[in-house]
Amino acid sequence: MTGFSHTSWRKPSIRTHDRPTIFLAGVVFGSLLLWAFFSVSTIDPIFIFSRPMPESCQCDKPDPAFNLQSDPPASTFYDDPNFGYTIDESIKNWDQKRQVWLELHPSFKPKSHDRVFIITGSQSTPCTGPSGDHILLRTYRNKVDYCRIHGYDIFYNNVKLDPNMPGGWGKLPAVRATMVAHPEAEWIWWLDEDTVITDMEYKIPFLQYEGYNFVLHGWPIEVYEKKSWLGLNDGSFLIRNCQWSLDLLDMWADMGPRSPNFDKWTKILLDEFKHGPTDQTALAYLIWKKQSDSFGKKMLIETRYYLEGYWTGIVDTLKNITERYLEVETREGMLRRRHAEKVSETYGLLREPSLKDAGNEFGSWRRPFVTHFAGCQPCSGKHNPVFTGESCRNGMDKALNFADNQVLRNYGFVHRNLLDSSVVSSLPFDHPA
Ligand SMILES: *[C@@H]1O[C@H](CO)[C@@H](O)[C@H](O)[C@H]1NC(C)=O
Repeated sequence: MTGFSHTSWRKPSIRTHDRPTIFLAGVVFGSLLLWAFFSVSTIDPIFIFSRPMPESCQCDKPDPAFNLQSDPPASTFYDDPNFGYTIDESIKNWDQKRQVWLELHPSFKPKSHDRVFIITGSQSTPCTGPSGDHILLRTYRNKVDYCRIHGYDIFYNNVKLDPNMPGGWGKLPAVRATMVAHPEAEWIWWLDEDTVITDMEYKIPFLQYEGYNFVLHGWPIEVYEKKSWLGLNDGSFLIRNCQWSLDLLDMWADMGPRSPNFDKWTKILLDEFKHGPTDQTALAYLIWKKQSDSFGKKMLIETRYYLEGYWTGIVDTLKNITERYLEVETREGMLRRRHAEKVSETYGLLREPSLKDAGNEFGSWRRPFVTHFAGCQPCSGKHNPVFTGESCRNGMDKALNFADNQVLRNYGFVHRNLLDSSVVSSLPFDHPA
């Protein structure tokens, strides 16, 4: 087999005296095709296509990897009438129940220790802001793109699962129901509607989270010392599908508006964190309060990459980052190699060594992983008055087109201008040599 190496690859130059050879090659190749066509058609045109592929591919199954058509009769938690999806119904022994389900569905067992499931969503009624629904369509498409590239599943919820948990609190019952609906997933990744994944190649370092069950981005000093509810952001978080997490959701929900203890907690949050009872304030309080006990040690405030990054510090850097990545690709031939979208993770891994000096987060020229348009309120359009509507719109366009460029590249196109969502140009071979 011949290996591909862009480093030694040169653009083909067709010199005049090469033409007869190419022409001759064309004739020979053409006759071979004709010969193949006739010889096959005289035998049985179906024959060569109907032979079984090497390794049984089970191509008649919806997904050859999972057995989607078997649910054995042995009972599981799903058959227990006392078991529920809603957040007020406590679950016990979840780890064991999940394990029983996996034993009964062995095709889901491989990778069940690190399988990821994304959940996001928006309100059930149309957006009232200008282009609100269009922006949400794009932010959702962005997550679907990431899932397709990395083989993750996703659920877009657009109903309030618990009418007594409005606003940001609504993510709790949604995450809870998803854990139960997807025992095959180890990690549930919640993403707010106004987040954009701006590094399509980046893979969350789950191996480093072995000792953790809950991960979100923030600044530990702000939470642990300054007791600030803005010291973290719960617009993007990872939660392990386990009993510990169900207990966390119970504690967290107990601080929320559906709880009989809501007034008590409101007072505590105002005293301790000087902020009212939002889902994020309650979470920051829990992380602060439990920092030294064994329960709290399972929660990690991630500071090494933007599991969530605030958009104002990010959008103006995207143009330079694009240029830095192009410089790397000009040097590294393999990163320019065209490939099927399905294998693009390979090229993300190949890029890593070139990014070792790029830094992370603020001031870095690494692509930010998740950009969060907190305060822009794309659905209602009622953005925080500290921004202009235009800065929000331009910022979202830039981030979405920046992400889209990483996807479109696999389809042969690029937005040359990050502010222009509709115009693309096609990419020449070996771009950007
Ligand atoms: C982008 O790069 C240029 C040239 O190096 C620099 O002058 C500019 O400050 C950079 N912009 C940002 C937002 O970092």
